[in-house]
Amino acid sequence: MSISEIEVPRGLSGVIVDTTAIATTDQTGNLVYRGYRAVDLAAKYSFGQIAYLIVYGELPSRSQYSEFEQKILSLSHIDEKYVKLIQLLKESNVLASMRTVTSAIHVEGGDRMEQLLNIAAKFPEIASDSYRIYRNLERIHSEEADMSRRIYLLSTGKDDPERAKFLEKILIMYMEHEFNASTFALRVAASTETDPASAINAALSTLKGPLHGGANSEILSYLLKFKNEEEGIDFVRKKLENKQLVMGFGHRIYKTKDPRAQFIKEELRKLIGETKRFQIADAIENYMWEQKNLPANLDFYGAFYLNEVGIDEPLYTPLFAVARVFGWVAHYLEQSANNKLIRPLSKYVGKTDRKV
Ligand code: COA
Repeated sequence: MSISEIEVPRGLSGVIVDTTAIATTDQTGNLVYRGYRAVDLAAKYSFGQIAYLIVYGELPSRSQYSEFEQKILSLSHIDEKYVKLIQLLKESNVLASMRTVTSAIHVEGGDRMEQLLNIAAKFPEIASDSYRIYRNLERIHSEEADMSRRIYLLSTGKDDPERAKFLEKILIMYMEHEFNASTFALRVAASTETDPASAINAALSTLKGPLHGGANSEILSYLLKFKNEEEGIDFVRKKLENKQLVMGFGHRIYKTKDPRAQFIKEELRKLIGETKRFQIADAIENYMWEQKNLPANLDFYGAFYLNEVGIDEPLYTPLFAVARVFGWVAHYLEQSANNKLIRPLSKYVGKTDRKV
């Protein structure tokens, strides 16, 4: 072997594989976007302004913001041929449909930034059409420039600025998280110099898994069925006794508290107050901490929150993608700007010296 071999922990846990200037978790355990705390940004800025920050590195001026919103709106509509593809597929899983449509998207012309934004801008409409066509609902067309308001409208069929603001908070929390699994998959793909649509598709496919973006669907299905705290705790206790995962708990980085989950929990309190269901969720969170030292992650409160905001469950992970795609855009550009093919080694443990 001419190269030196380094063994790292499985799952690359705790391994720094490259640098990034897009996001990090600071020493106080807060998620930071381009130097600003994500929760501080979410309290003051809109989804569109933060998407701009993630992609370009700076918060936009008023004119840059309005230009960005207009650009995203102008790129947001999907061609009839993709609608036909969605109709043909009639795929019950919205994310699976988004994956197929993304792989079919052919973006011509423009630089890499233009091509990436072209795909990102289309995600809300692809998700909406995929969701609605399968359920035999009328497609929705929107010319609303405000991004979170348009996303809310396309997701629910309702123009409700107040609820759209609540949705915006969680979309901001979902937008970026350095080398999470889907972003890392995108960076591996981008490192081969593949095109933006292919790299974004690698990320989408990875996000779909239940240990990543797909966890939130399962969380709601269990959370909604409890009538009181005891039922919730009993369910979780049985899961733990059977050595099963309780979706919505644990995180590779956040070992004591997920700041995004706590932020959304507070937004939830503003939205619905301390209802019975809120108390049940809180009791489960406390129980998991007492028993396993596992904190609630963003998806735990996120699933509950999206339900209260008025989003239908099949759109949870797709909306995660609608937000996270701006992180993927930034990471594609960062990887391409200083590229090195990502190609690790493996330690062979298979059979040896077999005779043919
Ligand atoms: N429920 C029950 N036990 C859990 C758990 C959960 N949600 N998450 C972790 N654990 C346990 C593991 O089984 C392991 O136990 P062990 O030491 O007895 O083997 C221990 O806690 C450490 O977990 P580990 O798998 O090393 O953590 P990780 O950093 O590799 O995994 C996740 C992180 C997110 C993949 C993991 O916590 C998980 O699967 N959570 C559920 C899915 C989820 O909510 N995903 C959304 C993430 S935002």
